[in-house]
Amino acid sequence: MSNANRYTGLVDRYRDRLPVSATTRAISLNEGNTPLIKLENIPRMIGKDVEIYVKYEGLNPTGSFKDRGMTMAVTKAVEEGSKAIICASTGNTSASAAAYAARAGIKAFVLIPEGKIAMGKMAQAMMYGAITMQIRGNFDDGMRLVKEVADQAPVTIVNSINPYRLQGQKTIAYEIVDALGRAPDYHCLPVGNAGNITAHWMGYTEAVADTAQFEQVIYDAATDAFTGPKPEGRPVMVGYQASGAAPFLRGAPVEQPETVATAIRIGNPQSWNHAKAVVKESSGWFDELTDTEILEAQRLLSMYEGIFCEPASAASVGGAIRDIKAGKIAEGSVIVCTVTGNGLKDPDTAIKQCEDAVMLSIDATMQDVRSSILSNM
Ligand code: F0G
Repeated sequence: MSNANRYTGLVDRYRDRLPVSATTRAISLNEGNTPLIKLENIPRMIGKDVEIYVKYEGLNPTGSFKDRGMTMAVTKAVEEGSKAIICASTGNTSASAAAYAARAGIKAFVLIPEGKIAMGKMAQAMMYGAITMQIRGNFDDGMRLVKEVADQAPVTIVNSINPYRLQGQKTIAYEIVDALGRAPDYHCLPVGNAGNITAHWMGYTEAVADTAQFEQVIYDAATDAFTGPKPEGRPVMVGYQASGAAPFLRGAPVEQPETVATAIRIGNPQSWNHAKAVVKESSGWFDELTDTEILEAQRLLSMYEGIFCEPASAASVGGAIRDIKAGKIAEGSVIVCTVTGNGLKDPDTAIKQCEDAVMLSIDATMQDVRSSILSNM
C-alpha cells in the first residue's frame, strides 16, 4: 500500500528549512498541520468588519503547540546521542517532553510547580512515564535549577532556551502563510516565557522573505535584533499576558506571578530580549488581561465558536477582541490568534466557571427527558 501522502510531522514536512540533514531520524508524533479556523460568530457579535482566524494548536498530539518545538529538540538530542532530557514547566512543555522521550526511548525529567499545574497535564507526564519533580517553588525557580543542573548531570535541556525548540515552533507561521496565501495583518498570542512569540516572528520572516535562497532567521544577542531579510508583509505582533504575571507590562521580572492561567504563570521570561525585539521590529505591543477577562474569553470561544481552549490560550482572543473594539486593531484587518493549548487539559478551571451551565438531575423517564427539553428550548 502506498504511503506517500501520509503526513509524518514537521521535521519531514519542512526538512529543508530546519537544522536537520536528509538522514536525520525524526522523532515525531505527526505534530503540526493544525487547523486554521475562521471565527464566524464572534466578529458579528462585536460588530466590526474583521477576519479573525484561530490557529488551533490544542489539536497537536499532546494538546499544545509545544509539540512543534519538542519534535525538533528531541530529534536533535537523540541525533547527538543524549539519553535523557530535562525541562522546567508550567505543564505543557513537560507533557510534550515526556511524550517525545517515550517515543524516542529516552528518559524525561520534569520540574513542575507543586499544586500549580492543570490536572490533565499532570496526568500526561505520569502516563508518558516522565520522572516528575514537583518543586516547592514556581516555574522561574524550576528554570533556574534546570539551567544549573545541566552542567552537573548528563541531561539535555528542552526548554525553549534550547535553540532547536524555536526552530520547530517557527513552523506555525509557515502553515499560516500557506493557508492564507499571505501573512495576516496582526498576529495575537499569549506570552509567558516568550519563546513562542519569538518563534512566530522567525517563521513569518522566513515565510514572507522574497529571497532566492532560504535564509534562516535567528535572534542575535550582539545586535539585539533578528538576522536575515526584513521583508514587507509581516504581521504586527501582539503579545498578551495575565495581569498577575505581566513582566513585559511592568518592565521588570515579577517576583510572585499569580494567575488562573497557570500555563503563563511566569515572572522572569527567558526570551525577554527576543520578545522585546519582536514587538519593536513588528511595531506591535504587549498588553495584559485580568483573570476575569481571560476566563470570559475562554467561555466566549467555547460557547459561540465551539472551540475549547485552556485559559492561557484564550488571552490571545480576549486581547484581540478588546483591541478590535478599541480600534487599536483596524477594521478590514486579517487577524490570526494562536490558541496554544486544549481546554481538556484543565477541566477543573472549566467546570468551576460553569456553575450557571444547564446541568439537570432527572429520573430516567421519558416524561422527565421530554419536559427538560421543552422547558429549555
Ligand atoms: N500558552 C500555553 C498553553 C502555554 O503552555 C504556554 C507556555 C504559553 C502559552 C506561553 O508560551 O512561554 O512561549 O511565551 N508554557 C510553558 C510550559 C512555559 O512550561 O508549558 P511562551
